[in-house]
Amino acid sequence: MSDRIPVVAANWKMHKTLAEATDFCDRFLPQVEDAAAEIVICPSYLSLPLVAEATKVGAVEVAAQNMHYEDSGAFTGEVSAAMLLDAGAKAVVLGHSERRQLFCETDEALARKVPVALESGLMPILCVGETAEERERDETDRILRRQIDAGISRVPAERLAEVVVAYEPIWAIGTGKTATPEQAEDACGFVRSLVAARDTTAAERIRILYGGSVKPANAADLLGREEIDGALVGGASLDPDDFAAIVTAAG
Ligand code: PGA
Repeated sequence: MSDRIPVVAANWKMHKTLAEATDFCDRFLPQVEDAAAEIVICPSYLSLPLVAEATKVGAVEVAAQNMHYEDSGAFTGEVSAAMLLDAGAKAVVLGHSERRQLFCETDEALARKVPVALESGLMPILCVGETAEERERDETDRILRRQIDAGISRVPAERLAEVVVAYEPIWAIGTGKTATPEQAEDACGFVRSLVAARDTTAAERIRILYGGSVKPANAADLLGREEIDGALVGGASLDPDDFAAIVTAAG
């Protein structure tokens, strides 16, 4: 067993109005008062202050699903790290595959965003992962190397351990197809070896999560693996009982 504290994060994507977010908190929070894992909820930007307020006495942190790397400026529709902090966020998801695939997020943008998040006081949750075709072509390691090398390239070694990485194979996201615990552990172990190439101490401490169709039925098996330090959960995080069960499975 590693002594890394697991992180279990709820990625709500474009779901939940303010009323629905309130209802979730009312039903979820009493179930996780004794949780051993660090719990993160990533609601829409608009629900950040509400969820931050609802969770302020517990051990739950609130995260945004994206941010811009500039402090301010003419970037219509974007938000800065300072704005997220103002809204109560403590962390930010960066490079989710939906951002990469649907909104043209690039490795270069992520190379800028990750250190800006850290410098601003937000814990970056950097997402990486391959498509089904890339896995079939045996390119998983190459893709992960490219995404990790870019994402952490401008993070100083002494702050590397503060980054959280989420390995999310794109073929497993929202498809009901989960990576086997062996596939997930292999990929997370490979990500750790990439971090070790920069700094071995950071590699021991960095938390590497698995994401992709995590649900109560498979959570214990995935989260029990040595190399897997938690989960980034989409669909199953929308239900307070399911998400609480996944948090509990993390130990
Ligand atoms: P899923 O989404 O759990 O619905 O597969 C995971 C994610 O996109 O982070």
